[in-house]
Amino acid sequence: MKTTTLAALGLATTIATTATAEDIKIGLLLPYSGVYAALGNEIDAGFALGLEQFGGETDATFEILREDTEVKPPVALGKAKKLILQDEVDVITGIVSSGVLGAVRDMVHGAGVPLIVSNAGNDEATGADCSPFITRMSFSNGQVNRPMGTWMYEQGIRKVYTLAPDYAAGRQMIDAFEQTFTAAGGEIVGQDFTPFQKTQDFGPYLTQAKSSGADAVYVFYAGGEAISFVKQYDSFGLKAELPLYGSGFLTSSLYVNAQGPAAEGVIAASHYVPTIENDANAVFVDGFMAKIGHAPSEFAVQGYDAARALVEATKAGATDRASLANALRQVTFEGPRGILSIDPATNNIVQPIYVYETVAGTDGLTQKVLAQLPSEADPANDCVMDPVSN
Ligand code: PHB
Repeated sequence: MKTTTLAALGLATTIATTATAEDIKIGLLLPYSGVYAALGNEIDAGFALGLEQFGGETDATFEILREDTEVKPPVALGKAKKLILQDEVDVITGIVSSGVLGAVRDMVHGAGVPLIVSNAGNDEATGADCSPFITRMSFSNGQVNRPMGTWMYEQGIRKVYTLAPDYAAGRQMIDAFEQTFTAAGGEIVGQDFTPFQKTQDFGPYLTQAKSSGADAVYVFYAGGEAISFVKQYDSFGLKAELPLYGSGFLTSSLYVNAQGPAAEGVIAASHYVPTIENDANAVFVDGFMAKIGHAPSEFAVQGYDAARALVEATKAGATDRASLANALRQVTFEGPRGILSIDPATNNIVQPIYVYETVAGTDGLTQKVLAQLPSEADPANDCVMDPVSN
């Protein structure tokens, strides 16, 4: 475990302190190892930048304690317990995997510790298993994939083969896509869920897709799995005859240059790409480039906005677990992704979704926005939101 104070980050001068200032202890629960390690590091970098850029707006001071989930639900649960019971953190943020979010949900809810989810899209955490202590600043699995079913049908695609890793996020993302694609009149002609974190060779699945009669393939893969999938798809010679679509993580700006030309022409949907044109994004991209050396990805913006939400909550006077939980649910601002708000019925974020194509740019691959789809709140899916008393 590493502890970082803002002073250690060289930020002490930017953060106002007063005699009454509260010190907020933050548990950053992220994968710093395993298949999503790059995602965890990127969220961490975005979070640090967010505290740096917005921290001066509040009298609160912040201390960060980091724990590695290793993308393993039982490990993550142990780390969450340690942060809550031993370190007595005021708030937890992070969590990349839907499986990990499912594992820690009861612990944070039962202990009454606010959790700002800065990646994991697990629909249940803002559905049937919602909690007034869980606020999501990232996306839900349904939210990113649902609009693509309709959009692809509108582009004339009628038959699709789907692939995703076999765990909660893969199942939920494909379900959401399938629901809207079939409701529009499309047909899923075949489907596979590949062993999560274990599949090295996608060849057998690609053979099935090739002979399925599909017009296109739709997938969810992220991190290391996305890099190998996109490369294998191209070297299998499938891209020209069977166009590849997916949720945006497939060709994230974080690793698209590791995929190289294999990613060119892939079309995907995301809540953020670094090429979105607005003032808040220009500030974010410049700040992230200057500090980290590459353009920020959707993972970076999730960390950045989680930090901003926390700052906003403390500006509203929140100091302890209960008041932070209540204030976090009311946060709204215009950030790099556009206007964000939290749906009071579920505590899930409401935000626009962007359809983008990966294209060759002057400095490597870049994201060309094809469509901005309107913000829609998720269905409440049996969420009963109990109030928290301060
Ligand atoms: C998830 O497990 O919820 C998840 C992981 C990685 C992503 C997106 C969703 O890029």
